[in-house]
Amino acid sequence: MTSEAERLTLVLVGPMAAGKTSIGRRVARRLGVPFVDTDKRVAAEHGPIPAIFAEHGEARFREWERAAVATALDEDGVISLGGGAVTDADTRALLQRHPVVFLTVTPEAVADRIAGTGRPLLDGEDPLSRWRSIFEERRAWYDEVATTTFDTSRRPMQRIAEDIASWRRELR
Ligand code: S3P
Repeated sequence: MTSEAERLTLVLVGPMAAGKTSIGRRVARRLGVPFVDTDKRVAAEHGPIPAIFAEHGEARFREWERAAVATALDEDGVISLGGGAVTDADTRALLQRHPVVFLTVTPEAVADRIAGTGRPLLDGEDPLSRWRSIFEERRAWYDEVATTTFDTSRRPMQRIAEDIASWRRELR
């Protein structure tokens, strides 16, 4: 049996468009482990996220997301969570025994990244101010689960991924 200490898991959390998926994929490649995006897992099983929100509501999405997080944590690898996964207390509890990187980003840097990306919670007028207030509402939860924080606003994703991979290697 593999002990918890020998397994390589690394979880990425943070607000929408912080770069969790693009950085996560690069970190996984550097560490030579699989990459899992829990949004993709949920969508593969239950259909597109906007349709889930529209037809079943956010609460049901959080349940399916929590199940996807639990399954992913049982596998080795780098796991990117959707921005709102930390709003669920049971999902936060699942993260307790794993290294968690909180990716931060400034509103200035995120503005171009969120345009027309089909995120249901940013639908409507002024997506940037919605993004800001959602981030502020959740910031304490990100801090609660985070082992460390990296900012993704200015440096190339590639460089940030290298730093995160080095940080994770040193934890072994
Ligand atoms: C959400 C973020 C999305 C996705 C869903 C809800 C959120 O993931 O899980 O649209 O509540 O912040 P990204 O953070 O990858 O955009």
